[in-house]
This record gives sequence, structure tokens and C-alpha cells, in this order.
Amino acid sequence: MKKKKKRLFQRLADSHRGEGVAPVCEHFGQCGGCMFQDMAYENQLLLKKDYVNGLFEGIAEVEEVHPSTPFNYRNRMDMVAAFGKKGLRKAGFYKFVVDIKSCPLMQKKSNEAFVDLRTILQDIQDYDYLNHSGYLRYIVLRQAMFTGEVMANFVVSERENRMERELEPFLHRVDSSSMILSDGLADLSFGEVFQTLRGGHITEEFDGIKYRITPNSFFQSNSEMALKMYRRLKEHVHGKTLDLYSGVGSISLFVADAASHVTGVEVVEEAVETSCINKKINEIENADFICADALDYIKEHREDFDSLILDPPRSGMHPKMIGPIREMKLDKIIYMSCNPATCRDDIKALEDYRVESLEAFDMFPQTPHVESIAILRRK
Ligand SMILES: C[S@@+](CC[C@H](N)C(=O)[O-])C[C@H]1O[C@@H](n2cnc3c(N)ncnc32)[C@H](O)[C@@H]1O
Repeated sequence: MKKKKKRLFQRLADSHRGEGVAPVCEHFGQCGGCMFQDMAYENQLLLKKDYVNGLFEGIAEVEEVHPSTPFNYRNRMDMVAAFGKKGLRKAGFYKFVVDIKSCPLMQKKSNEAFVDLRTILQDIQDYDYLNHSGYLRYIVLRQAMFTGEVMANFVVSERENRMERELEPFLHRVDSSSMILSDGLADLSFGEVFQTLRGGHITEEFDGIKYRITPNSFFQSNSEMALKMYRRLKEHVHGKTLDLYSGVGSISLFVADAASHVTGVEVVEEAVETSCINKKINEIENADFICADALDYIKEHREDFDSLILDPPRSGMHPKMIGPIREMKLDKIIYMSCNPATCRDDIKALEDYRVESLEAFDMFPQTPHVESIAILRRK
């Protein structure tokens, strides 16, 4: 299935390339962060539209892919420090790091911070992740698009800060900075925060809802598009609402004032804790967050809800979810997805629902990814 999907995408990519445009980044072609900088942005949108429509043939059709700002959109970039380089891995090659001087996908302030950190930290020993020796593993830059707040975190292999002197003149430029310990063999850009150098969190804001972003917490990668999608979801929410796969609760909190009550269900405990903090910050009374497996939860609570929001991981829903969801007998289901192929498969399995509308959103310009929202109506 995966191969078939890849073939469809590759065929479409070849036919949409057109005359091509000059890539804005000198690392294009080497760096694995982008795939389409040499394709005009209008063509990227057409490619993604045809891709989604190909997958959903006979089920639904998107009229267009909602565009994003094509560059400077990313809220987060994890820059590897290894082999004397700081940057991203070469496309398809885990062992090769491309020495990135500057990244046009990152938002401007976080990109500028990265450019400076390359120089500031040039004498700090990096980490050889093939032989497991050395110190600095990742520099993680995050920026909240609507508040402009910037975070810089340093992921290291030992519980000590060997960069105090170098970082001292830099820290006033960011709102939050932390030292993170990642001392295992796994190549992780998160871990235990063992020293807060500045702040401790940044805040993003969507239509007045504040989201606290801590060093290890997830947040959507493109705030402009996430906000567009959340506004669309909200139009379909009413009554007692279940937000399955709720992550850090960003959707639940955003739609809470359109619902009588929202329950967010998420399996990762830390994400649930973040949801509860954000609930408190926003003084939202009618939302609750539960740490549970979606399947276990829905088996026990089929009859309790008026609205259902699904936002599963890329792999889609567990097949056993289909039965209990159908038994909820809701008029409408809201399905947000970061993988249209698994979304299509899940929708097909929900046999007693038809797609009332399907929209696609370009959350990741210059890359093959596309997100979607399907509104399902009971037949
Ligand atoms: C696409 S993300 C949803 C993000 C979320 N809407 C947000 O904005 O934070 C999918 C989420 O599903 C969670 N997840 C994966 N498997 C799960 C399961 N079996 N039960 C509950 N949550 C699960 C993941 O931890 C992840 O947070």
C-alpha cells in the first residue's frame, strides 16, 4: 500500500514540476528538510490537490489546497550537532549531516538565533551519534508565530552545562532556553530538562486562547495553518464533544466555547499534563483531559457525546476503533488528519458515513506533506 501511494505521489510530482523555479536555499538538493523548492508554489498546491483527489477518488473531492505562507512558517526545527556540522540530515541518509548556514523554512527570529548559535558554539564538542561519544547533540529552536516568542534548547549527553560562557551574551535574545539531557543510545532531541537558562516556556495564542509551550511539549508546526484548521473544526462542534487523540489539548481548548463540554483523550501523560496547564491558564471550565488509550476509552463511553473530533497519528486509527465509533451513531464526525491515505482508509471503514466535505491544508510547504479535514455525515 505504502509503495502504491509513493508511486502515485512521485508520478504526480514529476508531472507537476513544470518549468521549475530557482531554489531560495543553497542547501536544496542535499538537505532532507525540503523537497519542492524547485517547484513553483502554485504547482506544489496543484500536486497536493491531485494527490488527495487521487486517493479519495469516488469518495470525495477537494476544490483546492488552502495555501500557507510558503517560507518562514515552521515553529520548530531540531538541528543536529555532529561531525563538525550543525544542521539537518541529508535526504535519505541518516549518517550524513548537511551543515546548514540558515534555513528558509524556519521563522525569521528563530532562524537568526540559529545562525548566531552556529558561530557562538563552534568550539563546543558535538556528539558522534554513530560511535556515541561527545557532548552537544541537538540545538532545538522554536518560535510561536503569533506572539513572536522564541525558545532555544540545547540537548546534551551529560548533565552539565559546558556552554555557560559562550551562551551568556546570547540568552537575552530568546524568551526561553533550557539544557536537556539525552544520555541514551537513541537519537532523541528531547529528554530531561536539567537546567533552565532563561524563562522556561513560550506562549502561542490562537484567537485569544493561550498555549504554553514547554521544552519537551508538542505543538503544531505551522500556526497559520493550524489556526485555519481549528476555526474550520469549530464550525462543526456542538453539545458534549469528544476530542480523541487530543495531544496537548489545543483543539479541545479552542473549540470549548462552541461546546457544552469537551473531553480530550490522549495516551501520553505529559501531553495531558500540558493540556491541564493550558486549561487553567485560559480559565476554561468546560474541558477535561483524560490519559487513556482511545480504544479503551471509547469502548466505555459510546453513548455520552454529541460531537466527535478525531485527529489520530499518521498511522490512522486502530481498526478496532471503527465498531465503537459507528455504534456512537452520531450525525456528524469531524476527522482531521496529517496523512490523507490513512484518513481515506478509516473513512472507508466507517461504512455508514459519507464525506459531506473534504478540505486540504498545506501545513508543510516545500515538503510532500498535506493535512485534511473531512466532515462525515451519517447516511
Ligand atoms: C496528530 S496528534 C494530535 C495532536 C493534537 N490534536 C494536538 O493538537 O496536540 C496524535 C496524538 O494521538 C496520540 N495517540 C496515539 N495513539 C493513541 C492512542 N491509542 N490513544 C490515545 N492517544 C493516542 C499521540 O500521542 C498524539 O498526541
